[in-house]
Amino acid sequence: MGIDPMWDDLSESLSDLRRCGRLRKLTPTDSRGVRLVLEDGSELVNFGSNDYLGLAAVVGESSPDRMSAGATASALVCGWTRRHQCLADRIAALEETEAAVVFPSGYAACSGTIAALGRSGDLILSDQLNHASLIDGCRLSRADCIVYPHRDMNSLAEVLARCRGQYGRAWIVTNTVFSMDGHLAPLAELADIGDQFDANLIVDEAHATGVLGDRGSGACEWLGVKDRVAVRIGTLSKALGSQGGFVAGPGVVIDYLLNHCRPLIYSTSLALPAVESAIEAFDRIEREPERRQRVRTLAERVRMSLGLECDPVEAVVPILPIPVGQDGRAVELSARLRRSGLYVPAIRPPTVPDGQARLRVSLSASHSDEMVQRLIAGLATL
Ligand SMILES: Cc1ncc(COP(=O)(O)O)c(C=O)c1O
Repeated sequence: MGIDPMWDDLSESLSDLRRCGRLRKLTPTDSRGVRLVLEDGSELVNFGSNDYLGLAAVVGESSPDRMSAGATASALVCGWTRRHQCLADRIAALEETEAAVVFPSGYAACSGTIAALGRSGDLILSDQLNHASLIDGCRLSRADCIVYPHRDMNSLAEVLARCRGQYGRAWIVTNTVFSMDGHLAPLAELADIGDQFDANLIVDEAHATGVLGDRGSGACEWLGVKDRVAVRIGTLSKALGSQGGFVAGPGVVIDYLLNHCRPLIYSTSLALPAVESAIEAFDRIEREPERRQRVRTLAERVRMSLGLECDPVEAVVPILPIPVGQDGRAVELSARLRRSGLYVPAIRPPTVPDGQARLRVSLSASHSDEMVQRLIAGLATL
């Protein structure tokens, strides 16, 4: 497939690396102790891993499938197995993107991707309530960063109208589901503004992957903007019940990350048990749509029972903040619920702004009707 001219600058930078013999690529291999099995089945004695005591296979022995535990090296050295590639291919298929790559955590995926893509001379526009991993990515990048008020599309357009001309590339960075508020980002409006001002969207689907959309790929699918959001980051550690993070997008963006994104280059690749459990979770997301239907139905039920108002499109988000205000009061209410057998954490600053402490309910498809009834009754008495 040809490279979209939109990414000419990234592809030129990759060509420069190729010219000077520094282009890095992933080569899937499998480890058998100190032997490395290549894709064609041939074997090499492995002098590239950091498994100094030979324990990766030994501690992996106790796992049900007797796999090596850690990946023993970064993805670009010898920590990228055929199972990592299989997981990346599954993600790209679900996301309907050209390519994907997996990271040791969602935090690393968010911070590393933004730090790598936001280069000197670029502008990053970041929603005020973005997750810390996105904020840290903005801070680590060499781009100028402007924070716009939460979901305020007029302010965003205004900043871009004023500043866009001074920058090379512009990026709009947002959570798709805001983890402390249960809000959805207005992705269609963001994409319109992106088109208007030639700015690319980078979104963090951490709380949406597996939950939203008919196929469970997230909020971009749910809001019908999959083809308008270039770079989608997600985590394997929430709805997928595993560990790790991912980025899905055009092949050239993924190749660029492999060559410039520090957590991919300088951190040990995702552990194999996490890779296997994430692959199984993707199977289940495909085979068991009833899980996402269940949690979305519960979210609607609890919101309706408690009279929590929100946009109908947001009613299915399984994160429900119960506004409280003062920190002490939030802690007290959380303790009261605990005494009746319910764990609902109190969220205080700096996770939320001063004076906006809250209880945060997060629902699961595994909650029974009876449990949810107790939650509703408990919250109603506060
Ligand atoms: C919105 C958001 N992005 C990213 C992350 C980081 O993901 P992980 O826990 O896999 O590092 C989290 C989780 O805490 C999150 O809530």
